[in-house]
Amino acid sequence: MKVVAVVNYKGGVGKTTLTANIGADIARWGKRVLMIDLDPQASLTFSFYRPEEWRANLADDRTVKEWFEAWRGESYVPHLSPFVTTPPVVNSAITHNGGGLGLVASHLSLGDVEMNLAARLGGAQVHRSTRYYFDVYQRLAAGLATFHPHDYDLVLIDCPPNFGVITRMAVAACDFLLVPARPDELSTLGIEHLLTRLRRFAWEYNRVADMQSDRHPGVKRLDPQILGIVFTMVQYYGGQPITAMQPHIELAKSLDAPVFDAMVRESNSYFAGAAGTQLPVVLSERIPRGLALELRTLVDEFLRRIGAANRGY
Ligand SMILES: Nc1ncnc2c1ncn2[C@@H]1O[C@H](COP(=O)(O)OP(=O)(O)O)[C@@H](O)[C@H]1O
Ligand SMILES: [Mg+2]
Repeated sequence: MKVVAVVNYKGGVGKTTLTANIGADIARWGKRVLMIDLDPQASLTFSFYRPEEWRANLADDRTVKEWFEAWRGESYVPHLSPFVTTPPVVNSAITHNGGGLGLVASHLSLGDVEMNLAARLGGAQVHRSTRYYFDVYQRLAAGLATFHPHDYDLVLIDCPPNFGVITRMAVAACDFLLVPARPDELSTLGIEHLLTRLRRFAWEYNRVADMQSDRHPGVKRLDPQILGIVFTMVQYYGGQPITAMQPHIELAKSLDAPVFDAMVRESNSYFAGAAGTQLPVVLSERIPRGLALELRTLVDEFLRRIGAANRGY
């Protein structure tokens, strides 16, 4: 079971779209994929469920918010599996190969959970209080450990557009980070900022782990691996990204993180058109050949980078 967190400080850079499309494509090739929506905006959830379905069937007792609320102190880890849902439309499109796509849905009030967890941490300064540090930051890792390793081949975590407690918890639970970005100035700045914050968090986490090695001997050192930066919403002219975007793509290559060769083009009609269908573009039958090829190349590169040889890994 490989765990990949999809992170970026900024909203609107394609995190959720990539999560849904990569997850659905890999599931289509016969893999068991679990997606976890940690963003209170719940866009990933609403790309698989209509809002009224969410309200009627999930909102009260089957979202990640209720899973967080099921925690009772440090001694009991609530299982995640009762909170996994099987979105019907996408699954009916992929199950022929034995694959499946599960989703732990989000909740619009997940922000309340974040505030409670931040309060439990007792402030942002590491020297102030570290009593509940791992109780908080290890929660998602502990939740994922309640699965059997063979339950899922891949877990994709869609993070909120910030580097708050919940995003950091995802960082502490994942093997790799995938960083979607748009080729513009703000996104490139955002990536640099993210890399700095990541390093700082890992340093802090490892320092607390050293300090508490007697109380928490099982905590492994954190060494976040960036799977890569993926450029999305790229505009092309004559087969190349437009001139205004090229410097930002080049700049990203000088940062301390790998950059995917594959990129996703801007296609308002297809990506916006997928909204409300409960089916990611990659599974749509009317997707143009160029876009299909592009997404396929991206998924192949993704699989290579997580160490899976190919679609049949
Ligand atoms: N390649 C693309 N081309 C055009 N629009 C896109 C593309 N990828 C995503 N979008 C649209 O941009 C908006 C933001 O994307 P989203 O994946 O929700 O970003 P994030 O999760 O980072 O906030 C959504 O409306 C989505 O449909
Ligand atoms: Mg999103």
